[in-house]
Amino acid sequence: MVGSVLMDRMRAENDFEQINPVFFTTSQAGQAAPNVGKSDSVLLDAYDLDALMEMETIITCQGGDYTTKVHGELRSKGWNGYWIDAASTLRMAEQATIILDPVNSPVIDQALADGKKDFIGGNCTVSLMLMAIGGLFKAGLVEWISSMTYQAASGAGAQNMRELLNQMGSLNGCVADELATPSSAILEIDSKVTACLQGSDIPTANFGAPLAGSLIPWIDKLVDDGQTKEEWKGYVETNKILQNDPLIPIDGICVRIGAMRSHSQALTIKLTKDIPVEEIMEILRNDNDWVDVVDNNKEDTLARLTPAAISGTLTVPVGRIRKMKMGGEYLSVFTVGDQLLWGAAEPLRRMLRILLE
Ligand code: HSE
Repeated sequence: MVGSVLMDRMRAENDFEQINPVFFTTSQAGQAAPNVGKSDSVLLDAYDLDALMEMETIITCQGGDYTTKVHGELRSKGWNGYWIDAASTLRMAEQATIILDPVNSPVIDQALADGKKDFIGGNCTVSLMLMAIGGLFKAGLVEWISSMTYQAASGAGAQNMRELLNQMGSLNGCVADELATPSSAILEIDSKVTACLQGSDIPTANFGAPLAGSLIPWIDKLVDDGQTKEEWKGYVETNKILQNDPLIPIDGICVRIGAMRSHSQALTIKLTKDIPVEEIMEILRNDNDWVDVVDNNKEDTLARLTPAAISGTLTVPVGRIRKMKMGGEYLSVFTVGDQLLWGAAEPLRRMLRILLE
C-alpha cells in the first residue's frame, strides 16, 4: 500500500525523470515493470543480491522482513549505496538517520556529510506530530508532551482497512430494517448493534476486536512498563529525529479508531515558558509549507481538522490550540495527517530528491 502511494507521488512530482529506475519485486519477477515514461523493462527479483549490488540507491516499502533479510547481506557483501526505506528495522540503528526533511534537514545534511548511507522514514504518528508542531521544538519551547492518538485502520495494513469497512457493513446490516423505519426505537437499535459487536458474526480476524462502533486502545506489542511499542516510538524516534540532547519526555496512549487513513493526535504540551497563543500559532504557521493552523472555532474545526477533510492530501492541520486550566505553560493542541503520505511515502521520495541535488 505504501509502495503504491509512493509510486503515485513519484509520478505526480516527475521524480522518475531524474533517475534511471530499475524495478524489483518479491513475487512477480519477469513481469512487465511499471510504465513511468522510460523504456519498457521487466521486474527483477528483489532477492537477487547481485542485481541489487548494481544499484546506486535502493528505495523500498517492502517492509521490515525484507529489510532484515536483504540489507545486512548487501552491506556485508560491500554494497555502499544509499538505502531508503520506511520499516522500523533499522530506524534506531546507530548508522541510520530517520528522515523527515521539513523538520530535520540539518540532521540529514550532517549525516550525508558524515558519509552515512541508511535513511529511514519514521513511524507515521511521530512524523505527523513533528510536521504539525516541529516549530515548537525548533524554538526550544517543548519541555514534555503527552500524546493521545486516534490512529486510522491503514496503519495496521490493507486487510485491516477492508475489515473496518466490513465491520461497518455488519453493524449497518443488523439493523437495516429498523433504520429504514424512522419510528423504530433507538434503544432497540442500539441493543441489536451491541449484540452484533459482542457476537461472533462481525469480522475481527485482523484487528482481533470490533473497531467500527468501538475502538482499540492497544497498538503493536508490549515493550515494558506497560507501554506499547507504538507509544515507545513516540519518545525514542522523536528524540532521534531531532537529535535532542537532553532527551525530551514524550508519552501517551496510542489508540486505533475507525478512521480510514489519517491519524489524529491530541497533544498536551508543557512549554518551557508561558508565551501567548497568538505567538505559538505564528511559530507553527511559519514552520513548513504543509502545516495548516486552524482557528479554534467549531466551523473551521469541522471543515479543516478531521481525517475526512484532509485524507489524500499533504496538508497537516493543527488546531484546537489553547492554554489549559493547569496554567500558562500548558498547551492543548489537536492535529491530523494522512498516514500514508507524510506518515510513510513522502519522506522517502523527498530523500531521493535530496540525494539528487
Ligand atoms: N504503526 C503505525 C500504526 C503505522 O499502526 O498506525 C506505521 O507507522
